[in-house]
Amino acid sequence: KDWDDSAILLTPSLASQCGFSIKINQMGNAMIYASLQNCFAQNVGDKAFTTTLTLRLHGNRMAEDELYQVAETCQYAAWASREIVCDRNYMEVSVKRAAPDDYALPENPVQGTNPKFGDPRRAAEKQTIDAGFRITTIMFYIPVEKVMGVTEAQRSGYGIANTPSRLVLRSPKTTPETYTQNVAGVHMTVLKTSTVFEKKWLATQIDAAAACPILEGSVSFTPNTITWYLPRHIDPLISSGQLQLLEVHIGVDGQRLDPAEMAARQYSLSINDVHIIIQIPVGAVGGYFKSHVQDDHYHTSYTIEPMLELLWTEDSIHEDTRYKVLFPITTPLLSRPPQVIDNTVPEQRMFKVLLGPFGSDVALMNISFPYEVLSVADCIARGFTVLEHMSPNSSSKVFMLEVPFTDPVVSQTRDMGYTVYSLHLTFGLLVLPEFAPFSHPVYLEAKLVDIVPPSVSGGCDYQNFYVLVQYGTQGANFQTIVGKQLLTSDLAEQYSFMENGTHLSFAVPFSSPDVVFEAIESSSVKTRLDVALLNPETNKNIKEFSLACNFPSTLIECFPNGTMTALAVKLESVPSLNPGQLTLRDPTCGPSYSDDRYAYFVFTGNSCGTTRKFFPNMMLYANEISLPDELEKIRESNTEDPEYE
Ligand SMILES: *[C@@H]1O[C@H](CO)[C@@H](O)[C@H](O)[C@H]1NC(C)=O
Ligand SMILES: *[C@@H]1O[C@H](CO)[C@@H](O)[C@H](O)[C@H]1NC(C)=O
Ligand SMILES: *[C@@H]1O[C@H](CO)[C@@H](O)[C@H](O)[C@H]1NC(C)=O
Ligand SMILES: *[C@@H]1O[C@H](CO)[C@@H](O)[C@H](O)[C@H]1NC(C)=O
Repeated sequence: KDWDDSAILLTPSLASQCGFSIKINQMGNAMIYASLQNCFAQNVGDKAFTTTLTLRLHGNRMAEDELYQVAETCQYAAWASREIVCDRNYMEVSVKRAAPDDYALPENPVQGTNPKFGDPRRAAEKQTIDAGFRITTIMFYIPVEKVMGVTEAQRSGYGIANTPSRLVLRSPKTTPETYTQNVAGVHMTVLKTSTVFEKKWLATQIDAAAACPILEGSVSFTPNTITWYLPRHIDPLISSGQLQLLEVHIGVDGQRLDPAEMAARQYSLSINDVHIIIQIPVGAVGGYFKSHVQDDHYHTSYTIEPMLELLWTEDSIHEDTRYKVLFPITTPLLSRPPQVIDNTVPEQRMFKVLLGPFGSDVALMNISFPYEVLSVADCIARGFTVLEHMSPNSSSKVFMLEVPFTDPVVSQTRDMGYTVYSLHLTFGLLVLPEFAPFSHPVYLEAKLVDIVPPSVSGGCDYQNFYVLVQYGTQGANFQTIVGKQLLTSDLAEQYSFMENGTHLSFAVPFSSPDVVFEAIESSSVKTRLDVALLNPETNKNIKEFSLACNFPSTLIECFPNGTMTALAVKLESVPSLNPGQLTLRDPTCGPSYSDDRYAYFVFTGNSCGTTRKFFPNMMLYANEISLPDELEKIRESNTEDPEYE
């Protein structure tokens, strides 16, 4: 669609003259407010009002402008005698013109019980203004009288219009014809007028006044609450002393709220003799925070646009006034240093930090570490977690960062059984849309107890190995391997296993299959016990321990009746030896008992190839245990022969 040539461009001055205002909210959305009786409204009998707007949205340089046409029709018939609207950029007053019935003269003008008819000026005001009457002049009371022709007034920015039953007068918020008046401590801009209609020699005039609060004296702030005071009795609008307040409504952004919604938002309304008081918590739903940067410090302001609608009647004149004020309020800048919440759990070996709250107009740009600055994308590529959390109930957000202890930006120091991890960083932030940068430094530190592995010690007596394991920092989080097998509960019982929360101990007899024989000496066996502690998760040994002991042992015995016995044990160095295949010199003399570790021979001085040697006071019998020749040949390449005497 093309831009309609007949369209009129709504400049700011035309907007205030004609009853339009615009508000851009924090999402960047424009809200356009139009008075029912705006200059361009199609008015059907003062009951239905239709306004049509063409909106032109500027595209960027590449795109065409976009045109939208919007039309809205509103029904409104419940007009009060006088309706006053205080909008952002204008004040408007609409007063009822007299109806034909009001021609009637007072029954007894002298008694004048009804002041409406007692005052000749008011009587004139009530005359019907038919087509023959023309508005000629407006008198402003500032409070001295100033007279202006209609055309001049319109040129000065005033909107003046007749509707079927009403006179509408609109004024920009401040003009030379308005003045400020302190009403119950609240400063108000006041417009007081009389509009003169003339028809030949007849003249009539209508009074119309509006008064709108300005911030001075209207609002007080604490860091948590906004309090807005509106005089209950707006003197410049009231002709008699008495008024009766019939209705009070609160709204936001021009929309009325019901009491339940007000309570949910924690707005409160109170009325005393002097003021109507609205309290709104800073941060409440309906308003929004805006971020600001001052000296690299973060500040916020909170903006909300409450509305008050009053309906009152003046007892003396039986005329009601509907009064509506839209009142944008912005708090002063509040210093809101962001909070750092350190959620690090050292055992997870990861720094976790939250920074906030910030308004939704803050963006995280980068993070500076001692030797580098990383953009958010760099951080993510590096394996850090960077997230933005919006709070569900308010328009605030927090930033979350996770940095693993293993990253080079984290420094480590050792301190008495602890490792201290520390991280210096600075968040680089930006307030949009102004692109105002600010930063917030953060120092994080986490301590982890050093992991001490369990330790093993041990000793022997004449028949057992004794093993003591002292737990490390991880407690009993290991499995014990004795020799080559896991220390199961069955085995633990055999080995008199004990445990007390800090230590475990067990005893292994030297003859146990878990013990290996390293060598045979004249009257002892050199043995070794291997113990390993295994991490069941990684299946890796945490600790390996070997204990070597010599156990005294009688391997050869001679009995008085001529019987001799010899025990052959398999050494660790000949793992493939089968003791059952060993024989004495006489290869037919095998062991009388054998298993995979032992061979036990029983023989006499004159059997199995035993030889004798004579010494002065003793006789030495000798024999030899070995593998028979043919077996030995097979084994020869592997190991030495065991040999016993
Ligand atoms: C938002 O909710 C949290 C917890 O639910 C509460 O602590 C906080 O005060 C609320 N904020 C507002 C602005 O209501
Ligand atoms: C990091 O961000 C801050 C805040 O927006 C900005 O001022 C600064 O220039 C950035 N630094 C780098 C190296 O991009
Ligand atoms: C556990 O046993 C070890 C070794 O026997 C001993 O030194 C320690 O005091 C005992 N601890 C407790 C709590 O009984
Ligand atoms: C010889 O004495 C030993 C030990 O007392 C015994 O075990 C063995 O049977 C005896 N041998 C004979 C042939 O009596």
